[in-house]
Amino acid sequence: MRTLSQECLRGIALLLMSQTVVSMVILNSTYLEAMLEKYMEDDGEWWASRPRGKRAITESDMQLILDLHNKLRGQVYPQASNMEYMVWDTELERTAEAWAETCLWEHGPESLLPHIGQNLGAHWGRYRPPTFHVQAWYDEVRDYSYPYPQECNPYCPFRCSGPVCTHYTQLVWATSSRIGCAINLCYNMNVWGQIWPKAIYLVCNYSPKGNWWGHSPYKHGKPCSACPPSYGGGCRDNLCYKETGTGARPSPNEREESNYVEPEVPRTQGPWPRAYSPTASPSENLDRNDVTSTQQMSQLVTCDTKLRDKCKGTTCNRYECPAGCLYSTGKVIGSAYYEMQSSICRAALHYGVIDNEGGWLDVTRLGRKEYFIKSNKHGVQSLGKYQSANAFTVSKVTVKAITCETTVAQLCPFQKPVRHCPRLYCPRNCMQENPHLARVIGTQIYSDKSSICRAAVHAGVIQNDSGGYIDVMPVDRRRQYFASYQNGIFSERLQNPPGGKAFRAFAVV
Ligand SMILES: *[C@@H]1O[C@H](CO)[C@@H](O)[C@H](O)[C@H]1NC(C)=O
Ligand SMILES: *[C@@H]1O[C@H](CO)[C@@H](O)[C@H](O)[C@H]1NC(C)=O
Repeated sequence: MRTLSQECLRGIALLLMSQTVVSMVILNSTYLEAMLEKYMEDDGEWWASRPRGKRAITESDMQLILDLHNKLRGQVYPQASNMEYMVWDTELERTAEAWAETCLWEHGPESLLPHIGQNLGAHWGRYRPPTFHVQAWYDEVRDYSYPYPQECNPYCPFRCSGPVCTHYTQLVWATSSRIGCAINLCYNMNVWGQIWPKAIYLVCNYSPKGNWWGHSPYKHGKPCSACPPSYGGGCRDNLCYKETGTGARPSPNEREESNYVEPEVPRTQGPWPRAYSPTASPSENLDRNDVTSTQQMSQLVTCDTKLRDKCKGTTCNRYECPAGCLYSTGKVIGSAYYEMQSSICRAALHYGVIDNEGGWLDVTRLGRKEYFIKSNKHGVQSLGKYQSANAFTVSKVTVKAITCETTVAQLCPFQKPVRHCPRLYCPRNCMQENPHLARVIGTQIYSDKSSICRAAVHAGVIQNDSGGYIDVMPVDRRRQYFASYQNGIFSERLQNPPGGKAFRAFAVV
């Protein structure tokens, strides 16, 4: 018997592989034939139990798949604070059914992939309940350590080898609250060049889509402590649960929030920022005054998002594009510099700063240009326009490792109108650094003479014992920087400094 699963790589979210062998037992042909015979017997039973009517899946298989998803979602480790209860969606079931009927061992259909998540499984031979695949998807957790899906990048391009965990991360993607699956019997299914005479093909579609590159599948914390408000505080078996049971779908605005960069308005803030919510037990936090910030600087956009659609100002300069934008239809106007109506991601493809796998880019606004030239680059045809309009350029987000002492003043001080810093990698153990060499000045907004990495620990963006990636946003000088004690670090206060600019640090989840 063979079992395979396959997880979607194209579409919006993407971890690097495209096809996955979850467990592949190499068997000789005598053995295969023997198994096939056995399967044919089993198949009779299995197939007979499937109603030939409307449903692509039996009521009991549906319930098993759904229950197992919710059970596994409720038990993730570390615990999730925002995991949503999953409900069955007949619309998703229909799309899964249409795809299962193609008997194609790949993700699809193309038009749907930007909008849904998809896990696939196939087997032949001995009877397997559909939950067998669901469990196999979950078992990829052995190669995953929260919150970094990057750790299990298989080597692709054809048959992938190496650890895979994208089935797992889609299964436990907190906001993917709806699922619909279908099972089909496929004759002579071509599975990576091998013909399986009779394969059982399971397709599960998820919405909203998970596996957004660079994001963790869920937030860590006390179960149900970070549910979207639309759940009204409901909680069941560690899952955000709406009593009505259906359509527990947060509004798009809520969803936006986790990635949205707040406008750059200096917040008036006392010297001792609120470090924990009133319900948290103070005794846990008094020691180090724990604060965490998962706010991100880069904004997740779709393939068709126009720069014009997004927030204005210097805070909206770093974007994260999904995979698959080569096949989307967003317009691109110009070459080298682009008109504001252009799709951000497709302009980046055209310019060559990202490829069809998606990724990050920085945008620089240029003001008005008189004309825009058409060209065909990297598979994207751009349009011309002979009319003056505002323009922007795109650039790659570079990554740079820094030391505990590096400052924004040295690396990328604020300039008008805007300055992009590379994405930074902080070493661990910056707390040990001499506080006179690696000062932290301010709270939330720091003087650019501060140690970037220590400020990031202070802000709760990274942790001392692991270090990690951060984004920094240089901002103009502040009149006041506030002192505080957070995460075991005392920061300094500074008033009316004669020179120097400031910055903020953001998590890269
Ligand atoms: C094929 O597999 C069967 C069952 O595992 C084994 O008994 C037999 O020796 C194998 N034949 C060859 C040629 O490897
Ligand atoms: C910071 O992290 C290092 C491990 O990288 C650890 O040895 C050290 O004790 C930590 N310091 C504090 C104050 O937690």
